[in-house]
This record gives sequence, structure tokens and C-alpha cells, in this order.
Amino acid sequence: MPHAEPRKLLVTSALPYASGPIHLGHLVEYIQTDIWVRFQKLIGNDCLFVCASDAHGTPIMLRARQENIEPELLVEQYRKEFIQDFAEFRIQFDNFHTTHSTENRALVEKIYRRLDERGLIYRKTILQAYDEQAGMFLPDRFVRGTCPSCGAKDQYGDNCEVCSATYTPDNLIDPVSAISGTTPVQKESEHYFFKLGAFEESLKQWISAGHVGESVRRKLDEWFQTGLRDWDISRDEPYFGFRIPDSDNKYFYVWLDAPVGYLASFLNLCESTRGKDMGLDFDQYFDEKSSTELYHFIGKDIVYFHTLFWPAVLEGAGFRKPSGVFTHGFLTVNGQKMSKSRGTFIAAATYLKHLDPEYLRYYYAFKLGSGIDDIDLNLEDFVARTNSDLVGKLVNIASRNAGFITKRFAGRLADQLDDEVLYAEFVDAGERIADHYEQREFGRAMRAIMKLADSANRYIDEHKPWVLAKDETNLPKVQAICTQGLNLFRVLMIYLKPVLPGTAAKAESFLAEGEWTWIDREYPLLGATINSFSPLLTRVDPKAIEDMVEASR
Ligand code: 2FM
Ligand code: ZN
Repeated sequence: MPHAEPRKLLVTSALPYASGPIHLGHLVEYIQTDIWVRFQKLIGNDCLFVCASDAHGTPIMLRARQENIEPELLVEQYRKEFIQDFAEFRIQFDNFHTTHSTENRALVEKIYRRLDERGLIYRKTILQAYDEQAGMFLPDRFVRGTCPSCGAKDQYGDNCEVCSATYTPDNLIDPVSAISGTTPVQKESEHYFFKLGAFEESLKQWISAGHVGESVRRKLDEWFQTGLRDWDISRDEPYFGFRIPDSDNKYFYVWLDAPVGYLASFLNLCESTRGKDMGLDFDQYFDEKSSTELYHFIGKDIVYFHTLFWPAVLEGAGFRKPSGVFTHGFLTVNGQKMSKSRGTFIAAATYLKHLDPEYLRYYYAFKLGSGIDDIDLNLEDFVARTNSDLVGKLVNIASRNAGFITKRFAGRLADQLDDEVLYAEFVDAGERIADHYEQREFGRAMRAIMKLADSANRYIDEHKPWVLAKDETNLPKVQAICTQGLNLFRVLMIYLKPVLPGTAAKAESFLAEGEWTWIDREYPLLGATINSFSPLLTRVDPKAIEDMVEASR
């Protein structure tokens, strides 16, 4: 619910790697975060949403080599594509930056220096797989071989996809480099380590103070029991990243500078507002004693980085820690992992060629809760759900009433509602719906809203304006009923505005209003002249789904 003083929140989604297109799997998180941010803005909080492309690391360096371009160019091309896709899905970032930026370099160096000054960094020589032909050390994922545990062939160097065993590349039987196909040798190299172990107590405290969800906390308990190992934050050249100051051939590991990218994107936003009215102060948000709130939305595969390394690095460098790390599960399509051959590995841009983004936003909202369960996009259910809820229930309320108001009353709404008690019920339901949004229980919010939509349709069914309108003497009643119907629709659209920003904007202009905020639901629209109605959303055509799947194969 709106607080007397608006809260100041800074929210992030995980930074997408700038080496492949945004797909429907990514969009679970961006849509989830965007809905939450839009909700915060709608209730009057001061909420900022930043992100960036994740530019560094070996895979991106190799991709650029393959395409014969500089990595800088590759990541910039993807960044532009990301910005376009996100805009079309109405993901409303306040800033979308890149980790390959001057702000990020400066922040990473500053953090590294502070950690080093406080004795939290040490150097140690380690053995690592080295590809002599390619002349480079191999990340675990670039060594493949036979699983030492179950004998499955062609497994990654860090874990087996068949038996789920985890190990290091030197445990693999008959290892080969995924780059040259040659057998890697073990070679020494000096690396920089961050003393994660030093933060054990304060991380435990931070976690038990409720900054992560219940299932993540249980996972963390397991990790604490195994013991926290210090973290290797360096990589040898060749590498695409930032060079470690005072070293000649060592780079910061991409996973050190990636989350720092959250800060860098925000710093870049602060710089762009300098001297303007809304001038933002970086320190106000990141000072150790900051009273602002910081939330990261992430997938369950990157929990370790965000709930152990990241808060420890922030604390070690004298910055505030996150107020919450919100974790979601993976996306399956028709009950299975997304797959190119099945045509279910669907790029954002492909989806947009066939379907309206509002459908997917609604479907994901309907499916999302606050936990880490995977969510399934069942394509048949997607068609049925969006058609029945959005078109059959929601938009129908408006279309059933709008015609009368336009044709019989020159677009003018009555001065009074027909049923104030029912209207008050709709308004009161907002408290619970707001609570669901706040708790990221979007599925619950959608179900509560659709229950109200049912009751709005029932109201119209029972009052039958189309029957009453046959008798001229009933016209004042018809106007009041249709005014009621449209006002119920209006309350529902306000509730759905975080999820359906495009449809809500159309509804605002249909009702000839400015931009709604949450509180506007308390004041019905009466005596006003509205515009004539045109369908706000149309039914999903199953053929569009078929075409999209075909185009993704
Ligand atoms: O897992 C990923 O896709 C990473 N690019 C996420 C980085 S999130 C943050 F830490 F930068
Ligand atoms: Zn195995």
C-alpha cells in the first residue's frame, strides 16, 4: 500500500550476456521485474529499474573471433538489439547500460582496491587446463570428456548432464579442449583470490534477516555446511574484460564485474541526471548506511553469485548490501526444456512478429509466484487462457457497455453509479491485490482480478441494458448501468496496468483520461465524455502460434 513517504527503491534484472538474442526464457525475469517496478511506480513509490548487457568473458571473446569482429562491436550490436526487444515488450528500464563501460571499469577497480587494502585479496598459484594449440587456459565448460562417475561421454568439465556429478576438469577421463580438440595439459598460473570465508558470519546474519526466499535459504544452509571456498576473481589473457590494475596479463573474471554492472548502470543514470530536477545521488543509494532499498531479480542458477559473493564483495568494499534477492525458476515450454528442434526456443523478436507482447506478459503474470518453481508455457493453454481472460472476460466488459454510451448518450457517462456497494467492493479488493503484487504473488493477483471481472460480467448479465434500452423511459437507468460497467472495467484496468501497460494506455485514452495511478480507482469516472470504443485486444489466433513455432525451428 502507498506509504506516507514514498519508498526509494532501486531494482535490477540479471544482465543478459551480449552473445545471443533475448528469448522467452529470459523474458520471464524481465517481465516479472517490470511488473513489480511498474506496480511500485503506480502506487507512488520512487522506483528505478536498471540493467545492462553482460559484455565480458571467454565465450564472448570466442564468438567475436569466430565472426571476425572486435568483441566491443559484437557486444554493442547485441546491446542495441536488447534495447529494441525490451522496448517492444514494454520492459521499462530507467537505464540499460553495458558492463564494458568506463563507469564499470572505475567501480570494479575501486572495489578491488578497497578489498585489497583491507587484506581480502591474496595470490596463489594454481594448476589449470591449458590448450597449447590455442595458447589459452580453458574455462571448465571448454573442456569435455568422459564423466568420471558414470562414464557418460562428451560431458562438460564441471558437471555431468547424465548423472549430475560435479567435479573439476582434471577429473574427466580423456579430456579434450572444445576449442582445438587437442588434449589439454595442466599448467601453472598465479591467480587472485577473494577471501569469501571471512564473511561467513555476516552472510549468515544477512541471510537469516530474511533477504532471500525460504527455498534459497535452505540451499544456502547446505553451502554453509560444505564450507565457503575463497573465490578466484582473475583470469589469464587472452580474455575480454578489464585488466587487473598493476598486473600485466591478468583480467577480472566476468562474474566479478557483472554485478558491479548494476552499480555502473545506476552511476551512468546518476551522471545523466546531474544538474537536472531529479538529480540522483549515487552515494545515497550505495552508502553503507543507505536507507534506500535495493532488489535484485535473478534466476535460480545464479543464486551463489548473488547471495554469497555479491553481498560479501559489497560489504568488503564498504557498500550497502541488497535488501532482497528475488529468485525465480526456469521456463519450460509444453512441459519440456526449450528446444530448437521442437521450435520452442523462441527469440523475443520472433514472438513479436506473430503475437502481441501483452499476451505473454499476462500469461507469465498468471503463472508467476514468489517461489523458485519452474513455470511452464503451454502453448495451447496460452491461447485458451489469454482468449478467455483478456478478451472473453476483461475487454468484453468494456465492449458490452461502450456502444450504448456512445450511441445513446453521445459518449457521456451518468453522474452517478448504479451500484455503489459493488463499486466499493472492487475498490476494497485493491488492498489484497496490492499485497499480492508487493509479495510477487502475481498469479494470485491475476486470479483475484479475474474473479472481479466475472462479477462485473454477472452484473451486466443481470441488468441487461440491451433489453432496457428498448424502452425510451428506461434510458437514465441504461446510462447508469453502462456507467457502472465501464467504471468496474476501469478499476480492473488500473489493477492490471503493471501487467498490461499497452492495453491500459489504450483504455486511458478510450476513457479520455490521463495516466492512472493506483489511487484513481477510488474515484469513479462520472459525468465525463468518453471516446468511442475500439477493441483493446483481439483474440489470439492459434495459427499465429503455429507460425511462430515453425519460424523458430
Ligand atoms: O547468467 C547470466 O546470464 C549472467 N549474464 C547474469 C549476470 S547477472 C549480474 F550479476 F550481472
Ligand atoms: Zn556422469
